[in-house]
Amino acid sequence: MIIAVDGPTASGKGTIAQKLGAHFGIPHLDTGLLYRAVGYQVQLNDGDPDSEGDAVAACGFADDLLADPALRSEGTGSLASRVSVHPAVRSALFERQRSFATQTGGAVLDGRDIGTIIAPDADVKLFITASVQARARRRWLEMTGRGVDVQLADVEADIAKRDARDINRADAPLKAAPEALVIDTTSFDREQAFETVLDAVKTALALD
Ligand code: DC
Repeated sequence: MIIAVDGPTASGKGTIAQKLGAHFGIPHLDTGLLYRAVGYQVQLNDGDPDSEGDAVAACGFADDLLADPALRSEGTGSLASRVSVHPAVRSALFERQRSFATQTGGAVLDGRDIGTIIAPDADVKLFITASVQARARRRWLEMTGRGVDVQLADVEADIAKRDARDINRADAPLKAAPEALVIDTTSFDREQAFETVLDAVKTALALD
């Protein structure tokens, strides 16, 4: 069974995908982490994330990098969004994601193009979204909770910029697959969001 979870930044798709993996006992891959590793490696190489050559050269990052907490920062998220526009970067990362998706026993992957490009054959496709304001507020609460000194308006502006880049890029833009179940979590807390998604997945898979 393959479950594809797509959606914009801070929509809660990562937590939902992780919980779905635990619920169904299948492994989960956060594909954004791969793009984050490439973006961060470009920076370590003193490269330019907007240069396709520099970004491709960073695709051979060491696996250890995936565990580096620096990958989780907003700055790295923005680098990831910049390197992800390059078609050669997307194809360099394709096989790793595809083989994860098609492993025996199934998998859940979250990202931007899972239902459209990586696993168009997924058994269930979810598109998790929420208003820019709700996503900015969640991200801001999470950041200030970690002691980061940041203004809500700046977080909202960053999220809007990242959305625009992810939606408007030519190759594999962020969009819901036509058959995806679109779930808007604007008015939900984490538990309500997961319960709603789980119900939708069970209905789609005809489970009770
Ligand atoms: O999900 P995230 O915030 O960790 O993703 C960081 C960036 O990586 C995102 O802005 C766009 C890119 N990305 C992508 O292009 N395709 C994916 N499947 C996952 C992430």
